Amino acid sequence: MPFWKIREIRAKDFEEFSHLILGVYSENPRSMKFPSIPTESELKVLLDYKLALLSRHESVDYVAVADGRVVAECDVAIGNRSTIGIIVEKGMRKKGLGQELLMRTLKRAKELGANSVVAEIYGGNVAAMEFFQSNGFSYADDGKEGKSVVLLQKLL
Ligand SMILES: CC(C)(COP(=O)(O)OP(=O)(O)OC[C@H]1O[C@@H](n2cnc3c(N)ncnc32)[C@H](O)[C@@H]1OP(=O)(O)O)[C@@H](O)C(=O)NCCC(=O)NCCS
Repeated sequence: MPFWKIREIRAKDFEEFSHLILGVYSENPRSMKFPSIPTESELKVLLDYKLALLSRHESVDYVAVADGRVVAECDVAIGNRSTIGIIVEKGMRKKGLGQELLMRTLKRAKELGANSVVAEIYGGNVAAMEFFQSNGFSYADDGKEGKSVVLLQKLL
């Protein structure tokens, strides 16, 4: 039985969400959109942007909580080109959590009007490539292997 609970993100989760981001940067900065570890002020800009999208109902943002801690997050910014991001804490990977969180987030994104979503994969991130492809994503027209960013798309 899974021992996590999935729910919408709340403002009080933002600090723990920041730790998730910083954790992935310390593992492999090349797999992230920005080239270096975000500074405190860059993180604040990101979190303010996240909050603004949420308050305008322009994003779906779910977290998974285990033992009272945020251990994973997935968001879709809904727009002409809806983009998805997902992070599962290192110690919680390969347990099916990412997949469950992804499905919950995509279901809600579809309810809010998204017809398709795009995942941006940086730095030859093999786990992310395999993860999205095993969940029905395929190469977008402008996302070919060999580029520094690969775009994978899924129709909803
Ligand atoms: C990509 C990521 C979200 C996957 O989360 P996860 O909880 O480990 O994924 P799941 O356990 O639900 O795996 C589902 C399927 O994805 C594939 N997969 C996941 N991790 C994989 C890996 N390291 N190597 C190969 N395939 C992988 C497998 O097909 C897996 O199914 P299986 O376990 O039956 O083989 C996680 O590795 C992560 O947070 N990485 C760092 C952040 C990141 O790169 N995010 C993506 C960019 S937006």
